[in-house]
Amino acid sequence: MRRPLVMGNWKMHGTRASVRQLLQEITRAGEQMPADVAVCPAYVHLQQALQLCEGTSVSVGAQDCSHMAAGAFTGEVSAEMLLDLGCRWVILGHSERRQYHGESDDLVAAKLAAALQAGLQPVVCMGETREEREAGEAEYIVSRQLRGALQGQAGLKQVVVAYEPVWAIGTGLTASPEEAQDMHAFIRAQLGDIAGADPGTMRVLYGGSVKAANAAELFGQPDIDGALVGGASLDANEFRQIVDATGARR
Ligand code: PGA
Repeated sequence: MRRPLVMGNWKMHGTRASVRQLLQEITRAGEQMPADVAVCPAYVHLQQALQLCEGTSVSVGAQDCSHMAAGAFTGEVSAEMLLDLGCRWVILGHSERRQYHGESDDLVAAKLAAALQAGLQPVVCMGETREEREAGEAEYIVSRQLRGALQGQAGLKQVVVAYEPVWAIGTGLTASPEEAQDMHAFIRAQLGDIAGADPGTMRVLYGGSVKAANAAELFGQPDIDGALVGGASLDANEFRQIVDATGARR
């Protein structure tokens, strides 16, 4: 049985005061949670988040990393630096990185290789736009992004995939549980084709307007192993309820 994973993507939000407040509300010292739980604040808040999560079951990740190991790359942060700081996870290929920073499948693949090399657990995001879905190209796009990032890499057991339809991110629109399940089953089947990956043990998360009100229905689907949560992860109460909803996993 795959253990559920609920990850908060805080994007470019927060101050030191709000990070403290949010983590004090999310974490309870020594508490066992029904899922693996992680938060991904902005780089500048990682150290503080790591300190606040110490002794709790909440782990910390970054929202991106460089594809290079080290060197003269102004403004970049390497996977090695994140691991050295104490981070466990890194989100890669988020649609906002693809859209606003022109990240290609090749760049996501290079970042994935760097993250795996350093020993971080990557969460690789993929998903189609509304136009692509309406044109019947959703599976083609997701398959291209999945293969573009993962094919030929070693150590894929560590990888988590997040299916995040672009039209559902931050819009209040969610894929129906059936739509999401269909794509998750498709992704899992594709993972089976990619050499070296055992699809039965890899986690595939759903992302896109997940909130307390729709989480249980999504988690009730057999191939949905948790969620990558944006907006609702900035509200401790909502986020805790999403974590609790993983109890709906069959
Ligand atoms: P959202 O964002 O939950 O605000 O839609 C999800 C994401 O971007 O990971």
